Amino acid sequence: MQPVPDAVPKAGAAREQQVQQLFSEIAPRYDLLNHVLSLNIDRSWRRKAVDLLRWEDARDGTFLDACAGTFDLSLEIARRAGFAGRVVASDFAHPMLVQGTPKIAKSPILSVCGDSLELPFSDGTFDGVTVGFGVRNLADLRGGLGEFRRVLKPGRRLVVLEFTVPPNPIMRAGYLFYFHNVLPLVGRLVSGHPWAYTYLPESVKGFPGPGELGALFNTVGFTDTGWKLVSGGIAAIHWGSA
Ligand SMILES: C[S@@+](CC[C@H](N)C(=O)[O-])C[C@H]1O[C@@H](n2cnc3c(N)ncnc32)[C@H](O)[C@@H]1O
Repeated sequence: MQPVPDAVPKAGAAREQQVQQLFSEIAPRYDLLNHVLSLNIDRSWRRKAVDLLRWEDARDGTFLDACAGTFDLSLEIARRAGFAGRVVASDFAHPMLVQGTPKIAKSPILSVCGDSLELPFSDGTFDGVTVGFGVRNLADLRGGLGEFRRVLKPGRRLVVLEFTVPPNPIMRAGYLFYFHNVLPLVGRLVSGHPWAYTYLPESVKGFPGPGELGALFNTVGFTDTGWKLVSGGIAAIHWGSA
């Protein structure tokens, strides 16, 4: 493993390696912090994302959860009543997969260590692809969306869940205060990582808004695209068909 970077990841060649290292470092505390810092609302967002996946049209199909981390979104698919398929869960931070492995015992989830920018799967493999809080971290967003489209079967859906900034000014002010003051402090105390939870608000700030991301889905070639805000615009869910 490379030396720990001492700065928040910036765009550029080193970003990919820095993000991989960041998630490898915080893996043991990731789940705890995720649910505490989001006041557990993240669970309902994942449910809403899977509601939009159209998995019911391929109940015994094969689904990809890319940037799967500790498998929370993969499990949301695999645990649906009537789901008889399997979920391939990929992530390039091996410690995240290791941390989540006890959670996927006895579930139809197969974990794969791989880079979402070069997915180790053939064209048209999957009946659906999900990405939860992952696309914001990609060093090449457009390239990543292209990869997700490539591995989807024609007509099948990509669903992306990602943080965004609420449009309402009052809500936005409260959200930004929490994001820039409370979250980095609690994150640093609990994870012990000096800057991981400073990276989170920085990465949301620098990420395209829902309209721009929606337009990028179209540019990459997705059809039947759409997006909706959840929890007043703290997060957004995007979808598109290959
Ligand atoms: C914020 S976590 C989200 C994990 C999970 N999807 C969830 O909903 O909790 C982002 C994950 O994306 C992974 N990731 C970021 N860039 C990646 C890439 N290029 N290839 C594979 N995984 C990547 C990180 O390792 C990390 O586990």
